[in-house]
Amino acid sequence: MDIKKVVVIGSGTMGSGIAAHLCNANVPVTLLDLTTEISEKARDRIFKSKPPLLLDKSQIENIKVGNINDNFDVVKEADWVVEAVVERIDIKHNIYEKIFKNRKEGAIVSSNTSSIPIKVLSEKLTTEEKKDFCITHFFNPVRYMGLLEIVKNENNDLAKINSLKKFCEVELGKGAIVCNDTPGFLGNRIGVFAMQVALTEAFKMKLSIEEADAIFGRPMGIPKTGVFGLYDLIGIDLMADVLKSFIKELSANDPFQEVAKEIPLVKKLIETGYTGRKGKGGFYRMNKTGATKVMEAINLETGEYSASQKINIGSDKVDLKSLISRDDKFGKYAWSVISKIIKYSSSLVPGITKDFNDIDEAMRLGFNWTKGPFEMLEEIGVEDFFNKIDEFGGNEFLESLSKTKNQDFYGSRQKYTEIETLGKVKKKAVSIDGNNSAQIYHFNDYNIVEFTTKANALDYDSMDALKKATDKPLIIINESMQFSAGVNLTYTMDFADKGDFKSIEKFIKYFQETCKHLKYSEHPVISAPSGLTLGGGFEVMVQSNFVASHTNIVVGLVETIVGLIPAGGGCKEMLSRWLDTDEAKKNPNYAPLKVFDIIGYGKTATSPVEAEPMKYLKPEDKKIMNRNSLLEVSKEILNENKDFKAPLETKFNLPGKVVLPEMNKILEKLYNDKVILNHGLKVAQELAHVLSGGDTTIDKTLTEDDLFKLELDAFMRLIETKQTQDRIKHTLATGKPLVN
Ligand code: NAI
Repeated sequence: MDIKKVVVIGSGTMGSGIAAHLCNANVPVTLLDLTTEISEKARDRIFKSKPPLLLDKSQIENIKVGNINDNFDVVKEADWVVEAVVERIDIKHNIYEKIFKNRKEGAIVSSNTSSIPIKVLSEKLTTEEKKDFCITHFFNPVRYMGLLEIVKNENNDLAKINSLKKFCEVELGKGAIVCNDTPGFLGNRIGVFAMQVALTEAFKMKLSIEEADAIFGRPMGIPKTGVFGLYDLIGIDLMADVLKSFIKELSANDPFQEVAKEIPLVKKLIETGYTGRKGKGGFYRMNKTGATKVMEAINLETGEYSASQKINIGSDKVDLKSLISRDDKFGKYAWSVISKIIKYSSSLVPGITKDFNDIDEAMRLGFNWTKGPFEMLEEIGVEDFFNKIDEFGGNEFLESLSKTKNQDFYGSRQKYTEIETLGKVKKKAVSIDGNNSAQIYHFNDYNIVEFTTKANALDYDSMDALKKATDKPLIIINESMQFSAGVNLTYTMDFADKGDFKSIEKFIKYFQETCKHLKYSEHPVISAPSGLTLGGGFEVMVQSNFVASHTNIVVGLVETIVGLIPAGGGCKEMLSRWLDTDEAKKNPNYAPLKVFDIIGYGKTATSPVEAEPMKYLKPEDKKIMNRNSLLEVSKEILNENKDFKAPLETKFNLPGKVVLPEMNKILEKLYNDKVILNHGLKVAQELAHVLSGGDTTIDKTLTEDDLFKLELDAFMRLIETKQTQDRIKHTLATGKPLVN
């Protein structure tokens, strides 16, 4: 079955997200709603969305729009019709009647429902129609969330379901998990339960919302929004509706009922318009008085707001074993929440799925958890878990595991896909070593380095691991959300605060040496980025010999924003790429000016399509929709390059001070228009100095080491200034830039 044309009905949040993503996969799609005006507005929203739903905004016209009365004929041509209208069964039933009257014979029809069982959705369909009907439950935002739950009915043509799964996996890049027809399917059943446990336990154990969020967040391998932050983000009113639907659908003795009960404070928040970020505020609110803005947090007992407190739990690592053994309220809360999640999830096997590891995958892809409940159990240790847990009567999975206490109960990961994912392959490593910041997996004919720090920020240890792993072909890849957000600024500032600039210089030199080593080592080095690939992370990628990039990347050199310039080879590599153009051969100022514009503004690209014109990526770099396939593609590159030879060293002919007047003219205007202030001017002048080649002329040939030296010297002059240090501190504290 070939899917060549798709119609999406309902152009709200989900319908427009699905249409945009089909457009990303170059599949012609028509978006229908009650009126064409509504679907046109949806297309506008797609165009303006942030983060962008489209890989390439110029393709927006490939999404056609229309209405269900005048334009329904498009359904006759479609190979797949996706229904994404409001969550109302009467409306959905009417739409199906119309679709099945018009559809092409054998075309697939699916619903994006998040809560209506397939047996209810399909109750009015004929047996023949049921063959081609299923649920395709995408997550919001569709481009970025990896999970797609496919729910089938007992009449389905299985070959067709499989080919739909394949299409969604390969073309749309989704982790497509086929699951049973149970309320909330996999992701939401566990995800919403987990949120409710985290919330109700915070009330019970008298934790502040900041304390709960500090635990039910990064320390547990869960996004740092935490539980109360996530509640505000989703909408407290929407969450109440979701809970009502679970209460209705689940049996009275399901443990979900206990944690889904209405809470008076939550009810009051909704009634008074405190529905979260889209309302007047929620558990958190921004209090604006005059020019000052203060983030406030609610007190769960009194309902009063006061300035939100930063909670320091003394560790940044995801380390569940230590977390649950802490003898303080944080440890007790963590254990209470984690053990309840593990107990509930395991009680649902095999009812909601026979493959428990599908639940883990659903939590990773649908909720961005680093580990699902069963992987948490594995990490805590089976023995320790059973020593600590009070009771688990009636839970078949735990009862059986408690008898064997088998620490290797997990077996293979990601059973739902045939792709040889990083998650599966890591388990087959011949040996593993590493340090605080990275793991090295050794195989027979290649190595893998996976960074392991927060946002994969890079430090000395990260570089050490890279260097150590180049004794064989190397793939730099990871399972966490970001490839690398850049050099670890906290690590750098610790030295700066002590006035220990020698150590910073030593680190940057080591960074440069390592990147040079990656580029010229005897064996090929491949970077397989996904997510943030910024600053130092970009420099690692750009100095690898090959790149296999996920289509969801944010890539660029952003150092100037914190008052620095790229000093790990970023300036050098960007110059080299732009010097390679025809324009640069005619005009010596062309490349330095282009790179000055890109790095000076700290420009980023949000997809490979945007990255190529800036030369952050090259046309020959591989671009891959399915993140799970990054490793397979990287291995293919290794196979195709068995006779790899390291590249010849790049040489540079740069114009020197001849280009400076043109750069200064740009800066003068920015300064006069107050776009940049005094320190911004200084940073830009340092960048100009590096990109011009310093004290050189066009006929003089510079080596890569000359360029590294220019980068390092400029970097050191900047990091020693109070203004750059202020910028870094400000960004670390607020996540926002400081203009000085
Ligand atoms: P929405 O409220 O943003 O959009 C619904 C759209 O359906 C509106 O544009 C509305 O005009 C249109 N519509 C209503 N009746 C129609 C009809 N008879 N014919 C054509 N269009 C009609 O809703 P949203 O959030 O996009 O949800 C759509 C479906 O996706 C629902 O079934 C929901 O449960 C499900 N879902 C929602 C998620 C979310 O995060 N919002 C996540 C996953 C699933």
